[in-house]
Amino acid sequence: MSKLSVVILAAGQGKRMYSDLPKVLHPLAGQPMLARVIATARTLSPMVLSVVYGHGGAKVRAHFAQAADLAWVEQTEQLGTGHALKMALPVLPASGRTLVLYGDVPLITADTLQTLLATPADSVALLTDQLAQPTGYGRVVRDAAGQVCRIVEEKDANAAEKALTEINTGILVLPTAKLAGWLGALTNQNAQGEYYLTDLIALAVAEAVPVHGLPVPASWQAVGVNDKRQLAALERVFQRIQAEQLLLAGVTLADPERIDIRGELACGRDVILDVGCIFEGTVSLGNGVQIGAYCVLKNVSVAAGTQIAPFSHLEGAQVGEGAKIGPFARLRPGAQLAAHTHIGNFVEIKNSTLGEGSKVNHLSYVGDADIGAQVNVGAGTITCNYDGVNKSRTTLETGAFIGSGTMLVAPVTVEAGATIGAGSVISKTAPAGQLTLSRAKQISLAAWQRPTKKSTT
Ligand code: UD1
Ligand code: MG
Repeated sequence: MSKLSVVILAAGQGKRMYSDLPKVLHPLAGQPMLARVIATARTLSPMVLSVVYGHGGAKVRAHFAQAADLAWVEQTEQLGTGHALKMALPVLPASGRTLVLYGDVPLITADTLQTLLATPADSVALLTDQLAQPTGYGRVVRDAAGQVCRIVEEKDANAAEKALTEINTGILVLPTAKLAGWLGALTNQNAQGEYYLTDLIALAVAEAVPVHGLPVPASWQAVGVNDKRQLAALERVFQRIQAEQLLLAGVTLADPERIDIRGELACGRDVILDVGCIFEGTVSLGNGVQIGAYCVLKNVSVAAGTQIAPFSHLEGAQVGEGAKIGPFARLRPGAQLAAHTHIGNFVEIKNSTLGEGSKVNHLSYVGDADIGAQVNVGAGTITCNYDGVNKSRTTLETGAFIGSGTMLVAPVTVEAGATIGAGSVISKTAPAGQLTLSRAKQISLAAWQRPTKKSTT
């Protein structure tokens, strides 16, 4: 059993977000910042995972209602970071260590936390950074031997302390058994009238508890979000990191600055992604898949060799090998396309299967349909799948040919090898191998004359 407890401080109001959504629920790369921190904390298998909430607490708790492993602690008044940690004391076990994280510092990595936790169990370890512009941060004060002595907040610092460039990221780990005593000893006699968590460092040093200041490997890991500008900047940093990982894995990106991955994107060899694509949820792309500009793919798998032309939107769909999709195609949940299918412009497919080699190339709606192999669906064909109450299925068997502008009134079947004449409304079974059409007879009136405008003068 792990001897680690994690406390995530998330009680801040986030005033500068100017939002009704609590700050820690604002998404970074598609996931609330707090959810990212919780996910990272879980990789450490803590015995207690506590979240200190305050402002907008009901919304925050509701968002994580399914998570049984979280110990929620309310801080009704934000009296400082030290006070916030004190609120969590009742849920912490007597022994082990407590790691303090922040709901608005979303990109801290498990590797960095492991480095912090690798310090001796009876010591304090603090994650620090070197910043050329340290304004606003607490500064790490070290003695002549380089040992950490204390942290001084910007507002309490003298000129010499303000000149220090080593800052406190806020992330630290402490022996839990010491916490009650140290937090009890905090006062709010400082420039901000707050109980500073950072004052625990001097208390540890006074008791000869070793304090380690370890550098964060990259500044972005410890950056906190206070406003939308910082959120947008951090989003770009994260997207750039993901783009670099894809490039290093051999994916071709037309522009690594113009891709957004809000979830997990798995790519095979020789995948080419043009600019402006967005990947959400879980997306997998097989070898040689090419995605054109400005496509959105959410929870989609695309098999090898398939090409998706620009401006296509795919959600909850599976696409087989060597298919051609788009431009301007829309695949909705439950679209399952076999190998070598073609879906053209302004075609919407929902909850339907298409067999190998079948084509729906122009301006069609295919909903709740079972389409066999080698079926050709002509331009402007619509499955009339909804009667206002019920959804019904359309079946197009192998080799069927549907003429342009056909209305398929479900439930209905077009049997194998049948041909439907253009412009038909089909509401009964079309027999195999035959031509079926339902169409008003064409007539021409030789004596008919166009109306003319009467002259008004
Ligand atoms: C804190 C540190 C500072 C460090 C900086 C890094 C203290 C006293 N100072 O300063 O040394 O350089 O972070 O960003 O800790 N929070 C609560 N309850 C409270 C107060 C804060 O939950 O009563 C939470 C906030 O939601 C936020 C975090 O704690 O996530 C930090 O609080 P903030 O007020 O931003 O501290 P800083 O002044 O930035
Ligand atoms: Mg802050």
